[in-house]
Amino acid sequence: MDKLVIKGGHRISGNITASGSKNTSLPIIAATLLTGNGTFTLHRIPDLKDITTFTQLLRQLGAETAFSGNTLQISSQNVTNVQAPYELVKKMRASIYVLGPMLARFGHARVSLPGGCAFGPRPIDLHLMAMEKLGATITIETGFIDATIPGGKLQGGHIVFPVSSVGATGNALMAAVLAEGTTTISNAAAEPEIETLCKFLIAMGATIKGTGTTELEIKGANSLNAIEFHNVFDRIEAGTLLAAAAITGGDITVNGVDPEQMKAVLKKFVHAGCTVQTTENSITLKSQQKLLPTDVTAKPYPAFPTDMQAQWIALMTQADGTTSITDKVYHERFNHIPELNRLGAHIEIHKNQAIVHGPQLLSGTKVMSTDLRASASLVLAGLVAQGTTEVLRVYHLDRGYEKIEIKLNSLGADISREKYNEF
Ligand code: EPZ
Repeated sequence: MDKLVIKGGHRISGNITASGSKNTSLPIIAATLLTGNGTFTLHRIPDLKDITTFTQLLRQLGAETAFSGNTLQISSQNVTNVQAPYELVKKMRASIYVLGPMLARFGHARVSLPGGCAFGPRPIDLHLMAMEKLGATITIETGFIDATIPGGKLQGGHIVFPVSSVGATGNALMAAVLAEGTTTISNAAAEPEIETLCKFLIAMGATIKGTGTTELEIKGANSLNAIEFHNVFDRIEAGTLLAAAAITGGDITVNGVDPEQMKAVLKKFVHAGCTVQTTENSITLKSQQKLLPTDVTAKPYPAFPTDMQAQWIALMTQADGTTSITDKVYHERFNHIPELNRLGAHIEIHKNQAIVHGPQLLSGTKVMSTDLRASASLVLAGLVAQGTTEVLRVYHLDRGYEKIEIKLNSLGADISREKYNEF
């Protein structure tokens, strides 16, 4: 197993280019199941464990995939198997993304129920509701979701999501593009990942109105085609790199980004005392390290993203005062807090709100990763902690950050990746 050994106290400064978005890659990879017409060429796909897991799943279904230099080629011509097994689904919840496209193309899908998650229940009821609204019959037996279509083909319908859900919106879109007739989706997620999925499906030949908004209308197509596509940047990786400069009093320019998609996060960095300048495709942040307490409430886009909540808590341990951070998306996404407190932070949890008392001098020790963004927050804390911090179980980090220690070391950090055994 790997750990990251971080020597604290180094300023993060310099130029870096963001990787492609993980959370956009996953639905567009799933969407390749929608057609056997040709081979997809997807550029700027990050080399991450979640991507490896997902391409393994697609190969299990019969797709052919080839990945090199962040370009992924996929052909779903020979996909016949419609069963997504537990062994792969348990590794990555987003495997549920195969449900919509498999139903749309084959009229049948069997997907293992995803397991729980480190930060509380991750229900899929909205995914199933959307499929039923389009004419699917869903039964759950022996740990599998078994979806069939008595009428043979999905029918357009009206889907109203009571809660904004990125995944359920993605599945609904990928089912509706081949359904007979028109589908409307109300209270759709408007995250950039969904906006990009809409653009991807339209490029494949789908007819979608309302891209980037919470009201979508999809006219079912008879067939779709494989395309070449350039993935967008990872806004959470970019935000995490900006936080690395902010917490160490550094200065950084992140290239290959769209600042428009990060407005809520950039506003908070400015409020915290950083200077932020943007161009069309870059963000430059300078920090005097004297940070101001800046409250945050994580909500669906375009608000501050829940995937930056853990990183923000780490940053606010260095702010001169008390900060309140509320997560309205995942009420239990606070497993990073006990570990940050072991580094010397003083953070309290009240229901879905963290109260961070700063500034706190952090001192390095061994800390345990529990989930992807929690591990990112521990790395950020290690950058500023005195002495050496060892972040264990970095397989969590490797799910969503491409070569993060190489990137941070190129910006002045002192991080080494080492093997270790757990007893
Ligand atoms: C996506 O997860 C992201 N994952 C998550 O990022 C991100 O935190 C989340 O969206 C919110 O932005 C990927 O894109 C692969 P949701 P998803 O459905 O789709 C409730 C990371 O760190 N809900 O938008 O699973 C749910 O409980 C990961 O990269 C239902 O109630 O999230 C939550 O409160 C972690 N029923 C809210 O909706 C459902 O059927 C938002 O969840 C589905 C969701």
